[in-house]
Amino acid sequence: MHGLSKHRGSPPTVVIIFGASGDLTARKLIPAIYNLAHDGLLPADFYLIGFGRKSIPDEEFQKIAAGAIKEFSRREMSPEVWARLAPRTLYVSGGYDEKAAFDRLGARIAGLEKEIGQQLQTLYYISTPPTVFAPIIQNLGASGLAARYVGQRNQSKCIIEKPFGRDLASAQALNKELTTVFEESQVFRIDHYLGKETVQDLLVQRFANSIFEPIWNRNFIEHVQITVAEQVGVEARAGYYEQSGALRDMIQNHTMQLLALTAMEPPVSMDAESMRDEKVKVLKAIHPLRLNEDGRPGDVARAQYAEGLIGGKPVQGYLQEEGVNPQSTTETYAALRLSINNWRWQGVPFYLRSGKHMARRVSEIAIRFKRAPGSLFAESDRFQLAANTLAFQIQPDEGLSLILNAKIPGLETRTQPVKMNFKYATTFGSNTPEAYERLVLDAMIGDGTLFIRGDETERSWQLITPIHEHWAEQGRKGLDSYVSGSWGPKSADDLLAVNGHSWREP
Ligand code: BG6
Repeated sequence: MHGLSKHRGSPPTVVIIFGASGDLTARKLIPAIYNLAHDGLLPADFYLIGFGRKSIPDEEFQKIAAGAIKEFSRREMSPEVWARLAPRTLYVSGGYDEKAAFDRLGARIAGLEKEIGQQLQTLYYISTPPTVFAPIIQNLGASGLAARYVGQRNQSKCIIEKPFGRDLASAQALNKELTTVFEESQVFRIDHYLGKETVQDLLVQRFANSIFEPIWNRNFIEHVQITVAEQVGVEARAGYYEQSGALRDMIQNHTMQLLALTAMEPPVSMDAESMRDEKVKVLKAIHPLRLNEDGRPGDVARAQYAEGLIGGKPVQGYLQEEGVNPQSTTETYAALRLSINNWRWQGVPFYLRSGKHMARRVSEIAIRFKRAPGSLFAESDRFQLAANTLAFQIQPDEGLSLILNAKIPGLETRTQPVKMNFKYATTFGSNTPEAYERLVLDAMIGDGTLFIRGDETERSWQLITPIHEHWAEQGRKGLDSYVSGSWGPKSADDLLAVNGHSWREP
């Protein structure tokens, strides 16, 4: 394991994408590989094999890949870079449950190895619907493809996309499936939020600056708010989303990861196991959520978007969306109030929220500090001191801001909250790598630091699954709604109001 900051280089590699004709492959995976090629980060011997049910000749797949790069890459396609990558872009067709197809894939890889006279690391990228995860994994085992060069640097590896299960039992079953044919060190469970530059910057800010650690605890912090808000609605994904909902789609994975990185103890080193040990430790310290039974308010709110305005345009409610069951109870918004039972965080609420059709697209982590004690400045009503707030803006407008109180120039002593801002784009320019570039490269190198370990995903599901079970019992009871284009439902405001807090408008 190389950790986050060490030398980075991959052995000769072939990346095999299962689900080659999928949306993610076109939008993210192929452009990511192209940009790695552009930056000279791929090994000299690199191949990409698309695997799918459709029978497509190599040349046709190369055209599809070129189209995806032109449409979705953050950089324009350079003819020279593509001229090097195109002949290495290949295709193998077959069913995911067809062992013979995996044997053909194996033969193709062996043929490439013979051609170049070198061993290739195989990186299987499982980017299919979850219904075929199991047959793919089983056939990778049965065909011997999973076991290639195990124990060596070029051992085969497997990246697996979300959703990683839909509850604790299915996540455990999937982990068992994976670890029957792969060693844990070969498995890379992806959460693309961990590949975002600003999420990695959170670690740098926390652990490379000495001013934060002494105040990063219950003595100074009042509460923490983690927001992942989207302006988009369910769009063309109703089929998937109806089975998922905000809690599974965003909270269980992305916001939980943000929480773990915010709240974990400093790891002993930045290598994969030390980092993930700390994340698991803090997830284990989260108290089971209280559900609203017997009229007691619980720690969870859920809602669906109703009609409203997005960007000034009228939009319909979730229940009217195409492909959505008009009686659906799937939540498009979820908010949680969590408490972490350890020395650092006891008594500091962590509020998580995520929703679609919200006022703005914004992901941020806001650390709200306790108010200054005493009343030196606050004696008169005119003096409204703000609580210091440190906000990590994950996207868009990536950056970091700190709210402080300052004196308004003048002969009276009057104060006003002011904002200190650090903007990525201003300091570093705006062409930052996409999350998938970083993650594909890390997996090729064998660095699992920014991937989820099996026990981590299970712990997160263990917290979330009782909520789903409770909601299933409740039906529509307690399911709130919010106007599209707003900051969410009243029930989510109530979650915070109990503690005298309110959601920040990012
Ligand atoms: C995905 C969810 O994991 O993340 C989507 O399935 C969501 O529903 C997306 O839109 C958001 O990702 P990003 O990178 O645009 O914040």
